[in-house]
Amino acid sequence: MINAKTEIYGIIGYPLKHSLSPLLHTNLFKFYSINAIYTAFETNNITNAIKGLRALGIKGVNITVPYKEAVLDSIDEIDENAKNLKAVNTIKNISGKLVGFNTDYLGFIDMFKNHIKDIQNIKLITVIGAGGAAKAIIYALYQLDIKHIFLLNRTLDNAIKTKNIFKDMINIDISDLNDKDILSSSDIIVNCTSVGLNTQETPININYVDKAIIMDIIYKDSLLTKQARSKNLKAINGMDMFIGQALHTFKIFTGKNANKKIAYSIIKGDFE
Ligand code: ATR
Repeated sequence: MINAKTEIYGIIGYPLKHSLSPLLHTNLFKFYSINAIYTAFETNNITNAIKGLRALGIKGVNITVPYKEAVLDSIDEIDENAKNLKAVNTIKNISGKLVGFNTDYLGFIDMFKNHIKDIQNIKLITVIGAGGAAKAIIYALYQLDIKHIFLLNRTLDNAIKTKNIFKDMINIDISDLNDKDILSSSDIIVNCTSVGLNTQETPININYVDKAIIMDIIYKDSLLTKQARSKNLKAINGMDMFIGQALHTFKIFTGKNANKKIAYSIIKGDFE
């Protein structure tokens, strides 16, 4: 029941038409009897959007592509992890003070632990991409105590910038997307590019991959995960990471731990 006390949360980004976050968070609020709604704020003006949050007293938002780095300058306080990885995906309005967090890396840690039970047998991890999403994944790998990774990216300069952000945390060797030696010897390959999000394309040639588990941060099966499975490689889409980040955000917004199974049933449409 919406009334004058209903709190408003949302997601800010562009484009947002396919975001699952409003469905998930609004139904989590409903399930836990919290008088709040969560909606999509699609905008091409992030600075004004943040002013709007302040002016209207919106309680919290997720920040998504392309604004996760741009908001760093517009908020009042940044949690240490978000500061380290230089991206914010969650803002909480605490009595008028906007505080930024990052839960993407926590979602990836959840996904990684769900699927990788023998981390001591993992020798080589390769990250594809060097943008905002890649930064969260690299930071998660650092938090998982991984000491060294390969980073493959289309644009060398962007790879170098990302490597420099993490120079005191994790060793990064850079190469290009066609590095057959690295791809064939990798145990895990994480796609952090947007390639395959809305198109039937892959960032790497699957024929170069011999044994790696493919992890994709895209929550639907992409061409890459499908190709990997047809080669009998294990492939994991980004749904676990999506649910993981949402549950960590829910905790920041409400102080409550939401149940993972409830979250999955909302996304599958089994929940009314
Ligand atoms: P996000 O926040 O989603 O990571 P981003 O910061 O724009 O978005 O980063 C996008 C990543 O996908 C980058 O690594 C980008 O490579 P470049 O650094 O060369 O731009 C990669 N990417 C996007 N489109 C690509 C394409 N068609 N082929 C290869 N890489 C691509």
